[in-house]
Amino acid sequence: MNILVLGSGGREHTFAYMLAQSDRCDTLYVAPGNAGTARIATNVPISVTDFEAIKECVLKNDIGMVVVGPEDPLVQGIADYFSETEALKNILLIGPSKRGALLEGSKERAKEFMLQHSIPTAAYASFTKESLNAGKAFLDTLKPPYVLKADGLAAGKGVLILQDINDAKQELENMLAHQKFGDASNTVVIEEFLDGIELSIFVLTDGEDYKILPTAKDYKRIGEGDKGLNTGGMGAISPVPFADTTLMNKIEERIVKPTIMGLKKEKIDYKGFVFIGLIKVGDEPYVIEYNVRMGDPETEVVLPRIKTDLVDLLEAAYRKELHRIALEVDARAATTVMVVSGGYPEAYEKGKEISGISSVEDSIVFHAGTAVKDGAVVTNGGRVLAVTSLDSDFRKALKKSYQNIEKLSFDRMYYRTDIGFDLS
Ligand code: AMP
Ligand code: GLY
Repeated sequence: MNILVLGSGGREHTFAYMLAQSDRCDTLYVAPGNAGTARIATNVPISVTDFEAIKECVLKNDIGMVVVGPEDPLVQGIADYFSETEALKNILLIGPSKRGALLEGSKERAKEFMLQHSIPTAAYASFTKESLNAGKAFLDTLKPPYVLKADGLAAGKGVLILQDINDAKQELENMLAHQKFGDASNTVVIEEFLDGIELSIFVLTDGEDYKILPTAKDYKRIGEGDKGLNTGGMGAISPVPFADTTLMNKIEERIVKPTIMGLKKEKIDYKGFVFIGLIKVGDEPYVIEYNVRMGDPETEVVLPRIKTDLVDLLEAAYRKELHRIALEVDARAATTVMVVSGGYPEAYEKGKEISGISSVEDSIVFHAGTAVKDGAVVTNGGRVLAVTSLDSDFRKALKKSYQNIEKLSFDRMYYRTDIGFDLS
């Protein structure tokens, strides 16, 4: 089968890397891809939200499966576009319908879904421009810190956590009355602050059944010790050492099962990944967000631990046959460390030549933001490379990633040296 992966980051390079290892994968395409995917697949220069161009590419190249990496095409309804287009309706598109994708596309919708299906999450209320004053009054009833979330997609920047009540009221006004995040903040969810440690759960579902994939922990802040601005993620570890059987049982019973049942009850067509962001408060798990895709850089540690053939697994999810397939997981730990452009997540330069990739040994270099220019691999994004390693425990794996990162270089290269610092 010919397969197309949509996206251009480390997540998509990882999907391509795993799919390329399957005997069932004939020609592999990535749109638009990066310098890393170009080495193992054919890059197609089309945008992930240009459905017409994707259709042409699928038909021209006899593609049988499409794996959707990022959320944008899902929220814009790529799964519905495929199922409603005669020529595409039998293509195995891995990703939820538009109604399913709303779990990520609207924070308010996600909160309502959790409330409806008794899934543990922080208490909340939502407000619009018309109810700005009620929103400010609601803030007065809460204790700091205050959590404000833009309802819509805001490229990972739509959540503000503020210590001061006046700052919180001002930001609420900026979001609702002055469109701080454009239309994404026309509605704002104000949430109770949950104090605990975060982890991520990944579920592959066919709408009936599900498989819980390896757990992962992401390090989102730019600075050491989890300080500074939020990024897309600076590194990840799988499995999460504190996700023991007791916690995983609670997560499965209270969160995963009601989520899949809820989708079914609401007759939502969902064939794809559910990425559940959790906070463990004391010993109890709470949902902080749903994403309708895999995480990045979590994918770079989750997929390399999956031993089951990825094409078989994805096909089973599409055909509602997950119950027939066993998920085999590598017992080793995986770590990834993101190498980023100096200045990220604020302004940074692109086009810097990268050296040392071919000297890396015993780690996998996934390209996140790279391009080929005049035959050389150059930086093309804030997050540039993700260096993944596997070993018997996460500290040994991390050591390999860090030893290999020392061989890499480009102008103003930066990475966190303390991934996993909070884990014992
Ligand atoms: P989200 O985009 O919903 O993942 O939120 C971004 C980050 O904000 C999360 O990874 C958490 O670190 C933090 N966060 C979100 N909601 C809460 C909450 N209710 N309590 C504490 N921290 C939160
Ligand atoms: N690493 C967080 C995300 O993919 O949303």
